[in-house]
Amino acid sequence: ADEKILLKERIRTLLRERDAVLVAHYYVDGDLQDLAEETGGCVSDSLEMARFGRDHPAKTLVVAGVKFMGETAKILSPEKTILMPDLDATCSLDLGCDPDEFASFCDQHPDRTVVVYANTSAAVKARADWMVTSSIGLDIVQHLHAQGKKILWAPDKHLGSYIQKQTGADMLLWQGSCLVHDEFKGIELDLLKAQHPEAKVLVHPESPANVVDQADVIGSTSQLIAAAVSLPATTFIVATDNGILHKMRLAAPGKTFIEAPTAGNSATCKSCAHCPWMAMNGLRNLADVLENLSNEIHVDPAVGEQAKVSINRMLDFAA
Ligand code: 13P
Ligand code: SF4
Repeated sequence: ADEKILLKERIRTLLRERDAVLVAHYYVDGDLQDLAEETGGCVSDSLEMARFGRDHPAKTLVVAGVKFMGETAKILSPEKTILMPDLDATCSLDLGCDPDEFASFCDQHPDRTVVVYANTSAAVKARADWMVTSSIGLDIVQHLHAQGKKILWAPDKHLGSYIQKQTGADMLLWQGSCLVHDEFKGIELDLLKAQHPEAKVLVHPESPANVVDQADVIGSTSQLIAAAVSLPATTFIVATDNGILHKMRLAAPGKTFIEAPTAGNSATCKSCAHCPWMAMNGLRNLADVLENLSNEIHVDPAVGEQAKVSINRMLDFAA
C-alpha cells in the first residue's frame, strides 16, 4: 500500500514537470482512472478520449488504454508526444484485421462506403471513409443508410450485426470479435436475470446477439455508466469489461452491480470479463514512461494524414 502511495505521488509530480496529461479508459486499473481525473486529465470512452486529447493544450499525452487509442491521439495531434505505459497493449479486433487483407476486401467491393470501428490500426483507418466508435456508430450508419449508401463494415461482427438490425442498412461484415465480450453467454444471462428480476441489464454492443437482445441499455462505456446513474433501478447486470465497475460504483453509490456470466472459470475462459491488454497499464510502468519519456507512439505521417480524414468525419458528425 505504501508503494502505491509513493508511485501515485511520483506520477502526480512527473505529470506536472513534463507538462503531460493522463487520458485513461474505463477498463484500466481504478488507480489510473482516479489519477487521470484528479490531475486534470480524463477518463472516458474512446470517442471522448480522442476529443479530449485533440483539444488539450499539453504537449505530452499519456494514454492509458490500448494501442489504437494512442494511435488515434497521435493522428489527431501529430505535433504532440504520445506515450503509453505498455506498447504491447493491443486489441483482438485490431489484431484480427490485417491492413493488406482488409484493403483487398475493400477492393472487391468498390461500391460500398467503408466504415471501420475505432479498434483498428492506423492503416485500416486510412483505407476507410468513416471511423466510428460504439457511442456513435449506429447514428452514423443510420445517416449513411438514409443517403442510400451500402456499407462495408469492419472489424467487429457483433457490433456490425447489431447496427445492421437496428438500421436495416445493407452491411457487409468483416468477421472480427472482441475476445472479452465474445465470452458473455446468453443462456446463463437469462438464468441470472431470473434470479434478479428487478435488475436492469447494461450491455456493450461488442457482445454476442443473444446477450445484446436481453439488454435494457446498449451503449459505449460512457453511455452505460450514464445509464447506471440515471435509471431508477438499484441493481444492474453488466455485460462489459469489469474494469468499468470501478467508475459505476463511484458514480452510482448504493447501487448493486453484478457481472454478466462468461464462459466459465479462468481455466476455460481466456479473458473472463477483463481485457488482458487493458490490464497491462499499471502505476509502475506509467511512472517509468513519464520518468524516461519512453514508449512513444509513432504513426507514419502519410498514413496518419489519410486516417485523420475518416476520424474527423466522425468528430464533425458528433459535434
Ligand atoms: P468504448 O468506446 O465504448 O469505450 O469501447 C472501447 C472498447 O475497446 C470496448 O471494448
Ligand atoms: Fe479490444 Fe475487447 Fe480489449 Fe476493448 S476489451 S480493447 S475491444 S480486446
